[in-house]
Amino acid sequence: MAQNWTPTSWRHKPIQQVPDYPDLAALAATEERLAKFPPLVFAGEARRLKSALANVADGKGFLLQGGDCAESFAEHGADTIRDFFRAFLQMAVVLTFGAQQPVVKVGRIAGQFAKPRSSNTEKQGDVSLPSYRGDIINGIEFTEEARIPNPERQIMAYRQSAATLNLLRAFAMGGYANLDNVHQWMLGFVKDSPQAERYRKLADRISETMDFMKAIGITPESNPNLRETDFFTSHEALLLGYEQALTRVDSTSGDWYATSGHMIWIGDRTRQADHAHIEYCRGIKNPLGLKCGPSLTGDGLLELIDLLNPSNEAGRLTLICRFGHDKVADNLPKLIRAVEREGKKVVWSCDPMHGNTITLNNYKTRPFERILSEVESFFQIHRAEGTHPGGIHIEMTGNDVTECTGGARALSGDDLADRYHTHCDPRLNADQALELAFLLAERMKGGRDEKRMVVNG
Ligand code: TRP
Ligand code: MN
Repeated sequence: MAQNWTPTSWRHKPIQQVPDYPDLAALAATEERLAKFPPLVFAGEARRLKSALANVADGKGFLLQGGDCAESFAEHGADTIRDFFRAFLQMAVVLTFGAQQPVVKVGRIAGQFAKPRSSNTEKQGDVSLPSYRGDIINGIEFTEEARIPNPERQIMAYRQSAATLNLLRAFAMGGYANLDNVHQWMLGFVKDSPQAERYRKLADRISETMDFMKAIGITPESNPNLRETDFFTSHEALLLGYEQALTRVDSTSGDWYATSGHMIWIGDRTRQADHAHIEYCRGIKNPLGLKCGPSLTGDGLLELIDLLNPSNEAGRLTLICRFGHDKVADNLPKLIRAVEREGKKVVWSCDPMHGNTITLNNYKTRPFERILSEVESFFQIHRAEGTHPGGIHIEMTGNDVTECTGGARALSGDDLADRYHTHCDPRLNADQALELAFLLAERMKGGRDEKRMVVNG
């Protein structure tokens, strides 16, 4: 167990990104209520995810992590969840089939509500109000009233997470994810896109393989692996009072777990070694993500690794690199070399979203070419260093939005106004997400063929 750690020890450390709750007694009462609510996830599930990620750290698998930048109360509905899940399954199947490696599936969902902000205030015209910090904290409407942090929202976020997770579990285990349905995951608006034909061809090959297996007696009825999938949840552990309230002892191991989601990550803005977010995360046993941005040095990273994963357990730590297409070449190699030199076991994942945000026609957007370019560089650098490009972390939705420019349908700056719905950062739509999955599958396959040539040659 982590030394000198309790679920509350973070409260004695400096902390960034804290909302200004006007009524601290109401906040404390809410946290007390939450502490009595049932856990959202179980320790055994988090351990299962950790062991899947340990395989990825070992070069034998790929992590697919994605979902909304910020979930919202207003858009909570079965269709949104189902459409996200369909798009996500399509990506997963393209990656599994293309790369012939197991894909570890982790959603940014069922808890992704709190947002770090670069400024405490937002100005519109002459009016300045507290920034929107995510639906778990305050409202997005630009009014004084909405922007006051309200603890009741934490209860709402908990209940929405529970309902979302309930549906996701049903989809993952109840037949929807059955490989027999591989054609049905295609979303209506993707059907006539350039990706559709490619996907149909791949789905045909899977269906044919399924028919062959059925002929020899291997059916989804007799093989849960064909009809179910492990789907995990994750979010940024930003609002530590909420996280603390859902921190529980696992009765089988005696260890502490965050039960707000299977995996939680630490943001690039809140990863100071002696601050509260690192303190909280070091004491729980869940798999952790650590966002790595351009200001992180090799030594800084090693210090954080020692705090978060002192026993060097594979699967515990995923480094989510978010440099930007033009900065990845300058930053990633030195981190890889530091980690390799010290023999640290990590999953290397690429977040090609957060370093590539620009403003166009007053919209925050991300050019798809830059996203692809960061992914390409990530793969090339890992090949050159001899390390495993282990995963991808993206902001995406199953809705037909126009938030990122480019892609095969060539969304332009003028298209952004059409369907720009995000509550925070621009997301890939299902079409763009699928295009990215095909590119990834090709790169992963490329790496495999190269390795084989080395072995054979
Ligand atoms: N159970 C396997 C897996 O999760 C195969 C599988 C079943 C699958 N349904 C899926 C893979 C949907 C991708 C997408 O990998
Ligand atoms: Mn974001």
